[in-house]
Amino acid sequence: MRIKGKAYINTIGCQMNVYDSEKLAGILNAYGYEKTKDVDTADLVLCNTCSIRHKAEEKAFSFLGRFAREKKRRPGLITIMAGCVAQQEGEKAFGRLPHLDIVLGTQAFARLGTHLDALAAGKRRIVDTAESDVIFEAMPDETAFDETAISKFVTIMQGCENFCTYCVVPYTRGRERSRNHAAIVEEITRLSESGIKEVTLLGQNVNSYGVKDGDISFPELLEKVSRVEGIQRIRFATSHPKDLSQELIEAMRDIDKVCNHLHLPVQSGANAVLKKMNRGYTRETYLARIADLKAACPDMALSTDIIVGFPSETQADFQDTMDLLRTVEFDSIFAFAYSDRSSAPAAKFPNQLPEAVKMARLNQLLTLQETYTEKKNQALIGRDVKVLVEGESAKQREGFDHTDMKQMFGRSETNKIVHFPSNQAVIGDLVTIRIENAYPHSLWGQVSGS
Ligand code: SAH
Ligand code: SF4
Ligand code: F3S
Repeated sequence: MRIKGKAYINTIGCQMNVYDSEKLAGILNAYGYEKTKDVDTADLVLCNTCSIRHKAEEKAFSFLGRFAREKKRRPGLITIMAGCVAQQEGEKAFGRLPHLDIVLGTQAFARLGTHLDALAAGKRRIVDTAESDVIFEAMPDETAFDETAISKFVTIMQGCENFCTYCVVPYTRGRERSRNHAAIVEEITRLSESGIKEVTLLGQNVNSYGVKDGDISFPELLEKVSRVEGIQRIRFATSHPKDLSQELIEAMRDIDKVCNHLHLPVQSGANAVLKKMNRGYTRETYLARIADLKAACPDMALSTDIIVGFPSETQADFQDTMDLLRTVEFDSIFAFAYSDRSSAPAAKFPNQLPEAVKMARLNQLLTLQETYTEKKNQALIGRDVKVLVEGESAKQREGFDHTDMKQMFGRSETNKIVHFPSNQAVIGDLVTIRIENAYPHSLWGQVSGS
């Protein structure tokens, strides 16, 4: 195939976007574009966008805005907005970005080639935000394949029908669809054959995988993936607390390859707020699920997402969230100030809080969590953890005095970064490390038995 030029892809947003971008790279490659890391020499620039919060959306507009001038100089340059902002904005995207060539919605990826043909034939300002019930099946992405990669994301379902009142995803990604399990297992088998050791199964609510249109349940899928030879670790995200089944808890306990880490977004510790968010559980039912989890898997690491400053969140509501952090003692959290999204119902809720209040609460919450993150890391000192080696540490630890060894790093099952000296460990090895020191964001240890 004749090479048409070089393509630069910028990915903003969630792990699913990382996965989608690799598929888009695969399509572009099949169409004749080589991937480049140098945006200045690219002939095609694609931004895979996210609209979950205002800031993410602004990032997309400002990145793509940079090419207005360049496009005047080089009219042949192709600029594409793909993903959630594209789906949300459609035609309106040209208001701020008149130089854009293609607006490619979340369910239009498979038609990218057709749109590039139309562009070559002289069509301008192409918009495709058509919704589709069909899952965009995976395409091999040979060019993007990084030989040193040991871990990959695999999307197992698309869309979301939970309609949390603050969230744009049900509007940008459409109805919930589960991929066929055989296609997922086949994709993971192929990844394993190319050297991948760890997969993270992705969906907005993986626990409802297969409920509507699949053939097996999520715990059954975990079992099937665990039988793929060469795959050593399985992670998944995200589980919705309202659908966290006992069956899944047992699968996490019984399937060795499934990592001892659960990301279970709580969003708020106050029942009044949870109700307004339409989350479908209470503080009490959330805590009961956490208790079930800890009973089945005492070493399970827990992480969560929290939104502070939801419309009409009172100081007492916020204290309930602080208190929930003290009760659960998460290993880590992702916390966000509520961001008003015009397509989500909460934008019309009364009592929107001032930015300063949201920021103050966010800082308080993050400061409180630091104590627990550190406490959880400290508790690992003296213990052996299994680490999947990712490579050489970017920066050597101060006082590193092993002249005959390299400083390597990897991740524990509980998703913590572990650094250690070694002259043998190579990327992709699973090594046992005895933890000697704990820092706020990483651990230090020695290969156990050495
Ligand atoms: N499906 C997942 C989360 C997807 S979005 C779930 O239900 O947990 C990732 C996180 O972004 C959410 O968990 C939430 O904490 C945050 N988020 C979503 N919409 C937001 C908004 N409007 N403002 C601030 N944070 C938001
Ligand atoms: Fe958004 Fe709620 Fe769906 Fe998560 S479950 S993607 S927060 S609507
Ligand atoms: Fe963002 Fe869309 Fe993912 S809004 S978080 S890129 S599903």
